[in-house]
Amino acid sequence: MSQLTDRIKEEIHEAVLNSKDELESFRLKYISRKGRITELLSKIGSVAPHERKEFGQKVNHLKELAHKKFSEAKEKLEKNNEGNNSGIRALDDPTLMPAPPAFGRLHPLSQTQQMIKDVFFRLGFTISDGPELEDDFHNFTALNFPPEHPARDMQDTFFIKKTDNDDEDDLVLRTHTSPVQIRLMQSSKPPFRSIMPGRVYRNESITAKSYCLFHQVEGLYVDKDVSLAELIDTLVMFVEMIYGEGVRYQIRPSFFPFTEPSLEMDIWWGDEKNGKWLEILGAGMVHPNVLKACGVDPEIYSGFAFGMGVERIAMLLYGIDDIRHLYDNDLRFLQQF
Ligand code: DAH
Repeated sequence: MSQLTDRIKEEIHEAVLNSKDELESFRLKYISRKGRITELLSKIGSVAPHERKEFGQKVNHLKELAHKKFSEAKEKLEKNNEGNNSGIRALDDPTLMPAPPAFGRLHPLSQTQQMIKDVFFRLGFTISDGPELEDDFHNFTALNFPPEHPARDMQDTFFIKKTDNDDEDDLVLRTHTSPVQIRLMQSSKPPFRSIMPGRVYRNESITAKSYCLFHQVEGLYVDKDVSLAELIDTLVMFVEMIYGEGVRYQIRPSFFPFTEPSLEMDIWWGDEKNGKWLEILGAGMVHPNVLKACGVDPEIYSGFAFGMGVERIAMLLYGIDDIRHLYDNDLRFLQQF
């Protein structure tokens, strides 16, 4: 009998308890009611009377040993798991391959912006860039906004003071990407064929449909004899390349100070019966006053321009019904793209 208790003692000492599974089989084997220690105790009747006391002490010692080993290993394992928020499993078996790392992916807005760029690259457009902090001239005046235009109101636009002692609120967080048109035309000579992606800001309350920050892609095409028909062709080609040939769209007249004539394009959101038109872009023929403000002769050159909302295009593309999802950075949302 004492040989048996010694063997079990050795087994307990040598048991490796590095995983939940190992812990559980240890518990079953030694501690549980059907385990080896209970089994030993049940044999006490067959032990010679003068050896019973010693045998009982040995078994009790084994019991304590097993419980101590079990609770220490359990605590250690739990601690390891707590410190391990990386998504990697606790060390079940050191020879196992680690769990594959979670790969990141592009945000749906970046994916959409890339799709838009790809379409216009194929049409021969280049990329241009401008500052997000603009002056009044580029954001409004050169774009033919009259002085009393509502967009110049504090209610709609974030104005920034240049310095503390400057009362003139001359700088604005750009309200659209159209000022990049002005910068492009001022900095080189026609023809121009470029798109201008970027972030824009408006002093709007945050709802399912609007946010104080969003993204646009502006387009400008200026050359000799550019026509409205070319603008419409380009826009139709664009929506067909993004949404597929069966896309339902409409083009309707509109007004912008910097284009004449102006139009807007809508995409149908919903099924045949239940749905509505959602505007995705504004466009038009560049107003002669805008060309003049940039030193381009409107007698020689004409052009078209457009500005589209990246959020709107993404929401229609992926069926997203609330713009705020795009900024929450909730992994459950982002992992779907
Ligand atoms: N800037 C306009 C807006 O933010 C969009 C726009 C309309 C841009 C017509 C254009 C254009 O270039 O021609 O609502």
